[in-house]
Amino acid sequence: MAEEIRRNPDGAEEVAEAEVTEASVAVHWSEEEYYPPPMQFIAQANFTDPSIYDRFREEHFPECFKEYADLLDWYQYWHTTLDTSNPPFWKWFVGGQINACYNCVDRHLAQHRSKAAFIFVPEPEDEPHVAMTYQELYVRVNEVAAVLQELGLETGDRVTIHMPMVLELPITMLACARLGIIHSVVFAGFSGQACADRIVDSGSRVLVTMDGYYRNGKMLDHKVKADEAVEAAAQAGHPVERVLVWRRYPRQYQSQAPMVEGRDLFMDELLQRHRGARVEPVKMPAEAPLFLMYTSGTTGKPKGHQHSTGGYLAYTAWTSKMIQDIHPEDVYWCMADIGWITGHSYIVYGPLAVAATSVIYEGVPTYPDAGRPWRIAEELGVNIFHTSPTAIRMLRKADPDGPKNHPNVQFKHMTTVGEPIEPEVWRWYYHVVGKGKAVIVDTWWQTETGGFLCTTIPAIHNMKPGSAGPALPGIYAAIFDDEGNEIPAGSGRAGNIVIRNPWPGITQGIWGDPERFIQTYYARYNRDPNSKDWRDWPYFAGDAATLAADGYFRILGRVDDVINVAGHRLGTKELESAVLTVEEVAEAAVVPRVDELKGRVPDVYVSLKPGYTPSPEIQQKIVAAVEEIISKIARPRHVYIVPDLPKTRSGKIMRRVLAAISNGQDPGDVTTLANPEVVDTIRRMVQGEELAGAS
Ligand code: PRX
Repeated sequence: MAEEIRRNPDGAEEVAEAEVTEASVAVHWSEEEYYPPPMQFIAQANFTDPSIYDRFREEHFPECFKEYADLLDWYQYWHTTLDTSNPPFWKWFVGGQINACYNCVDRHLAQHRSKAAFIFVPEPEDEPHVAMTYQELYVRVNEVAAVLQELGLETGDRVTIHMPMVLELPITMLACARLGIIHSVVFAGFSGQACADRIVDSGSRVLVTMDGYYRNGKMLDHKVKADEAVEAAAQAGHPVERVLVWRRYPRQYQSQAPMVEGRDLFMDELLQRHRGARVEPVKMPAEAPLFLMYTSGTTGKPKGHQHSTGGYLAYTAWTSKMIQDIHPEDVYWCMADIGWITGHSYIVYGPLAVAATSVIYEGVPTYPDAGRPWRIAEELGVNIFHTSPTAIRMLRKADPDGPKNHPNVQFKHMTTVGEPIEPEVWRWYYHVVGKGKAVIVDTWWQTETGGFLCTTIPAIHNMKPGSAGPALPGIYAAIFDDEGNEIPAGSGRAGNIVIRNPWPGITQGIWGDPERFIQTYYARYNRDPNSKDWRDWPYFAGDAATLAADGYFRILGRVDDVINVAGHRLGTKELESAVLTVEEVAEAAVVPRVDELKGRVPDVYVSLKPGYTPSPEIQQKIVAAVEEIISKIARPRHVYIVPDLPKTRSGKIMRRVLAAISNGQDPGDVTTLANPEVVDTIRRMVQGEELAGAS
């Protein structure tokens, strides 16, 4: 297995370095066998009609997407399916009026009032789970919307929400959506500083947070991060006026951080005044922004992706119903965090739009042991399970028997998302977790794309381990080489995966930075900047992939400066800026190291300012800086203090050389570098593991 894991990401690494290789390097692996979907699955599936691919052929684009939008309730039907007048800022369902909260909550009351919308599972196993019906969700969302109104928040305002996996998080999101307030949820594991960057960028005047939450058996103090965030935002010239604090246990404050008079308010107290309040959903234009979701960029500044109301909701609703195969009577559990796009699209908006019961688990999957997910699944009767390759690898390592001894764990459907999954790991997921009876979808997509782009349709296609599958209906995906020539299917060559057309779930752009949006996703393959024809604007996803003769895409990994650590996107520049805050550091480079469990982890290389000597203390300071400024998830595996970083004659740091060294490979010909001698020194240091600290 180790070899399989290495082969895959290393292939991607080759592709990653545009300085030295073409996008279209050859990759060498054998085709995997097909697994047909089980008959029991097909018999009950929401979608079994292969003619959809005809209906969504290019000559029917964009009108074909009406089928998606028709899953929603509109106040006013749209007059233009796709407006391409200002490429690449596409507008879907123009003229339509809709409210996302109404579609996720109110409209289900007639048929599903007393059915659970969410089931919250606290991390402590002796704390009972909480099932929240659609009626209860409706009541609580209305009350929170009343609080937001009382505080003077209005349609179009931005609110930053820095909260863990608790019911109050989707309640707050939906309350914002009810009023047309744009929410910006920041992953709870992010530091106060990272939260501040997102507050400032989005211009939020209100921060919603929580006192504390359980993680790995400990109650974490979360409110302290809010204080850090507000302070850092103030230093950046942006005042936060209000901090709304949910309490994990109402009236029992868990944090050491004092409440700041005049700024901080407890949500449970504010809500007292709004018991039973009802707030009319605001009729929003289809193209009004629903939320912002930040990703790491190739420069230090995170990008706020703006997702639309109508297009995004139509896309996540259709994919939840047809790809996740959610029926109202299913119990669906996605183990992602709502603080990432997967949680927005496939814990909250998509599942609720199709009246699902969606499970929210507070803690880590392996707490208190790797049997926890199976106990939860057994207790709640989960039949659709959705997670990442990193979680699957961790569970497999901790207990290779998986749910074998839990006869009542019986999934009909399982999803993998966020990273390439090695065929060996896929087979374990299929045979051991799914007991050979569940269908698997390997869904490739991104924060920017709103929902799935490539995957098998579960009752229609055979599965193939390690391959996401064909592009979804209406997604015209292709592999391009560096010059923009299409690499034919079955050629065995890798290249850049592109989507040739817009689709309803696509990001509307980067908040406050339209030029960066064009540069990052479209400049690469745009044929004419003045063209109003969508065919001239292929979307560059930033991933390398191959396309097999059967039309299945296999994703290799990022081609830009992004490291995918356990499914979390971290920008190398962002990490390097954090490292450079350490006083002794002169220069820094961060590169991905292949890791058996997490896919990739960051390795840090630094040179020191004159007068400083390498020491374990400096290494520790660097690790602490990364954890504090970004997050513990970004913790470097190694910090190497080297005499100098390898550079080109023009002074560019050669990260490719360092990545090769970190991954036990030969750095290749370095004679053209400005300082080739340093490469050997670094190589001996790293591959001989001298001074390799901070593991
Ligand atoms: O490199 C791809 C990888 O995750 C990136 C997107 O990360 P993010 O925006 O955080 O969204 C995560 C949820 C989709 C992609 O550019 N990726 C995502 N799904 C897959 C994947 N790599 C391989 N296979 C997948 N199924």
